[in-house]
Amino acid sequence: MFPVERLRRYRENENIRDIFKETHISNDKLIMPVFVDENEKNKKEISSMPGIYRYSLSEYEDYIKDLNDIGVKNIILFGIPSNKDDVGSSSYDKNGIIQRAIKIARDNTKLNVIADLCLCEYTATGHCGITENGYVNNDKTLEIYRKEALSYAEAGVDIIAPSGMMDGQVKAIRGILDENDYINTIIMAYSSKFASNLYSPFRDAAESTPQFGDRKSYQMDYRNGREALREIDMDIKEGADIVMVKPALFYLDIISKARGLYNMPIATYSVSGEYSMIKNSVNSGLLNRDVIEESLIAMFRSGSDLVISYFAEDYIRSHGKY
Ligand code: PBG
Ligand code: ZN
Repeated sequence: MFPVERLRRYRENENIRDIFKETHISNDKLIMPVFVDENEKNKKEISSMPGIYRYSLSEYEDYIKDLNDIGVKNIILFGIPSNKDDVGSSSYDKNGIIQRAIKIARDNTKLNVIADLCLCEYTATGHCGITENGYVNNDKTLEIYRKEALSYAEAGVDIIAPSGMMDGQVKAIRGILDENDYINTIIMAYSSKFASNLYSPFRDAAESTPQFGDRKSYQMDYRNGREALREIDMDIKEGADIVMVKPALFYLDIISKARGLYNMPIATYSVSGEYSMIKNSVNSGLLNRDVIEESLIAMFRSGSDLVISYFAEDYIRSHGKY
């Protein structure tokens, strides 16, 4: 007790504070989202996400080589195809935009290549699955996810990240991978993904806005925390290797509880709306730039092992290779 215990001893100067820091951000644990656009010739800034671009395949190649050089370790890919249809058939095309992007990353960099697996970029409806009378048919959608997963594995992906929130999606994907001997392809499940208002900048970026209705019949109701843990529990039982909580900053309670309950790698996705709020505040001078690091620290401190963030590149550029 005071005056023997003085917690200010931990804080006297920066070197001292560093000895006591409990949370560390390492490049190994950050994942940078990358958008590849089959329709684009030149890179194009996403207007709702200042500093984030959609790349043509050729510019993408230069971009990811640069990411690799500055010390980025992991990317997660999102594709914007030239062709959308009812069943999202471009999503499992061997020469599809994602399949080609995976190969380019494998051939030219040492990055861990993660690919988001969903249908909303590929369906004319903008929904994450096949719709019948306005409702997404779960089990028919799983059949397309299986084809998509196999095509990603054939292209050489390291980690597949199913984000559609269909029931049974992890089991379906693990099944097709194992049947085809892709036993070491890792699944990072978007396990507890909430029907959040924070995704709208991403939907501009990925052209994946639902053309009718919303995603509330498959993504989680944000009023529910216990149900989020059931989602995580089920994905673990279905064979997920990494479970994810998404978005991040409004959902740190879920991360923290999952950390206590499961001995699994936990990822969190700090989504487009979180990025844009913080980025706009920094750009306008409202908040100091260090708020970026503070937000990343919050995700790691709450128990995330891995963080997907649009600030990953910026953070690594300004902190260097370690
Ligand atoms: C696709 C997908 C979404 C995000 C990642 N994968 C959007 C959505 O569910 O509408 C959101 C990412 C972000 O906002 O940064 N299912
Ligand atoms: Zn989707």
